Amino acid sequence: MTDNLRDALTGLLVGRGAFALVDAAVNSCNPEVESLCNRLGISCCILPSPPSKNLESAAKVWTFLSDNGATRSSVLVNIGGGSVTDLGGFCAATFKRGIDYVNCPTTLLAAVDASLGGKTGIDFNGLKNEVGAFRIPVATIISPGLLASLPFGQILSGMGEVIKTGFIHSSEMARDALERVKALSEVPGRIVEMGDMIRRTADVKLSIVDADPLEKGLRKVLNFGHTAGHAFESLSMERSGEQGAASHGHAVAQGLLVALVISHVRLGLDSIWLDRLASTLRTHFPPIIYTCDDYPHLLSIMSHDKKNPSPDSIRFTLLESPGEPVTDFEVSSEEIRTALDITRDYLHI
Ligand SMILES: NC(=O)c1ccc[n+]([C@@H]2O[C@H](COP(=O)([O-])OP(=O)(O)OC[C@H]3O[C@@H](n4cnc5c(N)ncnc54)[C@H](O)[C@@H]3O)[C@@H](O)[C@H]2O)c1
Ligand SMILES: [Zn+2]
Repeated sequence: MTDNLRDALTGLLVGRGAFALVDAAVNSCNPEVESLCNRLGISCCILPSPPSKNLESAAKVWTFLSDNGATRSSVLVNIGGGSVTDLGGFCAATFKRGIDYVNCPTTLLAAVDASLGGKTGIDFNGLKNEVGAFRIPVATIISPGLLASLPFGQILSGMGEVIKTGFIHSSEMARDALERVKALSEVPGRIVEMGDMIRRTADVKLSIVDADPLEKGLRKVLNFGHTAGHAFESLSMERSGEQGAASHGHAVAQGLLVALVISHVRLGLDSIWLDRLASTLRTHFPPIIYTCDDYPHLLSIMSHDKKNPSPDSIRFTLLESPGEPVTDFEVSSEEIRTALDITRDYLHI
């Protein structure tokens, strides 16, 4: 299962001091990870599951590196989901003014999104990703076998980002992503055979990041579905607490439907795509319930999204058709309310 990991790491780490952060859940489900690190002479720091992405954890990682003699030429290997790749990337970006790091994502969301592109960071003062840095990993090694132990909810969360990427890339990729959700719902273990889908999705993200490494423009297409998605995520978090809340990708999947509805009304996106996504969501994703009483709160979260330059303008990434995204499209609160109504009708909530 870890053969490609062993081969890739051996090549990358030769002659360099290497250190690894390993998510405890990954470590207990895949004991071969720790033995691989031992064989390669990598010192391991096991992070509690779920890993916290905060200043205290960052201090623990800096201490681990410092106490074990890491130097400017050392490499940090992050083995875990997005929490570990964000935290480890941030610690690598700051330790001795920056050391190299390698990501080995173990969640689907990290494999297709979080582990790629060089955005690193930690949560601070109750704000998500408040402190961070751009630093590109020297490599991201995806070993689909490590995803076998993922709970189905985590697979669905990753599929939210896979569907998003499909829509911004092409009709063919969007249709394929929706079909994969059905296949995974029948047999979640099939994820380990979906290296082709993971690779294609990761490649789309990488090509967008390459064209806009510091998020000046084009990279905003990756925000598709996230304006409403973040609002659903926050609402769910407020209602159910961090543990019981809908996962990020799950909230994004529902946010995608809001964005597709607005895209249909404003840009003439074919309604077949709304029908297809809504049917996938109804069948496979538990709905994040909201009523019209929640609209003022949802709108206020959307308008405070840091991607909006002023509180009055709510900007969305929309689609003319799959593969034809439009960024910074200003949408009025009335139009958003209507889209939230239509989304509820589609989801039967
Ligand atoms: N930097 C970026 O561009 C970017 C993009 C998207 C998300 N993110 C960040 O990613 C984080 C979320 O990442 P995530 O969804 O991967 O969650 P996560 O890393 O918190 O992992 C989710 C849960 O799965 C467990 N887990 C991980 N791998 C496992 C495996 N193989 N088997 C069994 N359990 C496993 C973890 O212990 C944890 O309990 C957020 O902090 C978000 O801000 C960053
Ligand atoms: Zn996302």
